Amino acid sequence: MKILITGGAGFIGANFVFYMLKEHPDYDIVCLDALTYAGNLETLEPAMKNDRFKFVKGDVADREVVFKLFEEEGFNVVVNFAAESHVDRSIEDPGIFLKTNILGTQVLMDACNKYGIDRFHQVGTDEVYGDLPLDRPDLFFTETTPITASSPYSASKASADLLVMAYHRTYGLPVTISRCSNNYGPYQFPEKLIPLMIANALADKELPVYGEGLNVRDWLYVEDHCRAIDLILHEGKVGEVYNIGGHNEMKNIDIVKLICKYLDKPETLIKYVTDRKGHDLRYAIDPTKIHEELGWLPTTMFADGIKKTIDWYLDNQDWWKNIISGEYQEYYEKMYGNR
Ligand code: NAD
Ligand code: TYD
Repeated sequence: MKILITGGAGFIGANFVFYMLKEHPDYDIVCLDALTYAGNLETLEPAMKNDRFKFVKGDVADREVVFKLFEEEGFNVVVNFAAESHVDRSIEDPGIFLKTNILGTQVLMDACNKYGIDRFHQVGTDEVYGDLPLDRPDLFFTETTPITASSPYSASKASADLLVMAYHRTYGLPVTISRCSNNYGPYQFPEKLIPLMIANALADKELPVYGEGLNVRDWLYVEDHCRAIDLILHEGKVGEVYNIGGHNEMKNIDIVKLICKYLDKPETLIKYVTDRKGHDLRYAIDPTKIHEELGWLPTTMFADGIKKTIDWYLDNQDWWKNIISGEYQEYYEKMYGNR
């Protein structure tokens, strides 16, 4: 079995590489990643020592690179993590989101059609369902919730999902899609809520909470996401969408306060800043389908996962300090300087 994992130098992709190398000692894994600002080869260092793992630097939207790789390697399975993934960046500059997230997915599927594949798995997001009101805790996203999108990021991911289903229906490409809630855990880029708050709190910097901090996200420990994708690859039904989430809804402000408490930092660091444009109010996944059909349930509860995550950022300060020392400073100043 030879698997192509795209975007494997990013947060979830790298965790998936480690997961698959551990769980399937007989699989060969190739990672294709463009090493954008969000990709970090240092993350994959432990995998580089494994002779069943190979890294290739390249853009998923580059047809020549992708087709050559498929011809040389002969993949059985493709798992597509490669994406521009940050909502705030998509609001500033949507173009690259459309190129990577939509056209990149198309190029990969064209290569699958040409060279043949047993499965193309698209790593999707719950953000394609838009948002839910804060005063209706009885509502959840199911796989049949209509696709609507609030940000250029979610619109690009929704477009990719539609294209994936179209390639299944039109060309018979054996596809599956998973739509997961917000992930947290080791190796998440420090522009996202949890690692940003940990890094700022450790430096006694302001903790910028958008709006009133009342928006709700449904958090899942990254390893539980990886296990769900592995299950879908092996037991999921071709042509199906699976929602992944662990019924762990939290208000942003409560997460930030929890991080302060664990790090013994004062809540006076919290600063309420101008809200994100079009800010989705609440995400909440109904994971009944993947539970009933594939027996998946999350294994890491938030109370444990968040401690493990904060401890990881404490123990691996070189990893994220390296990242935030470079061009990230410019990004931070642009996004938060006058907010
Ligand atoms: P990330 O931003 O941490 O990593 C993205 C990776 O893709 C990086 O390594 C980057 O270098 C690579 N990449 C970007 N453009 C590329 C291109 N054109 N060609 C090849 N590689 C490219 O993202 P993440 O948080 O790990 O998310 C991975 C996937 O999971 C994305 O598709 C995202 O939409 C989806 N997802 C993320 C979450 C979440 O909470 N982070 C939740 C649900 C779904
Ligand atoms: P984020 O990690 O960007 O994920 P997403 O927008 O894809 O859910 O943000 C999670 C939530 O945290 C979201 O409601 C926006 C909020 N947020 C802040 O309040 N401050 C911040 O500095 C960031 C990055 C996010």
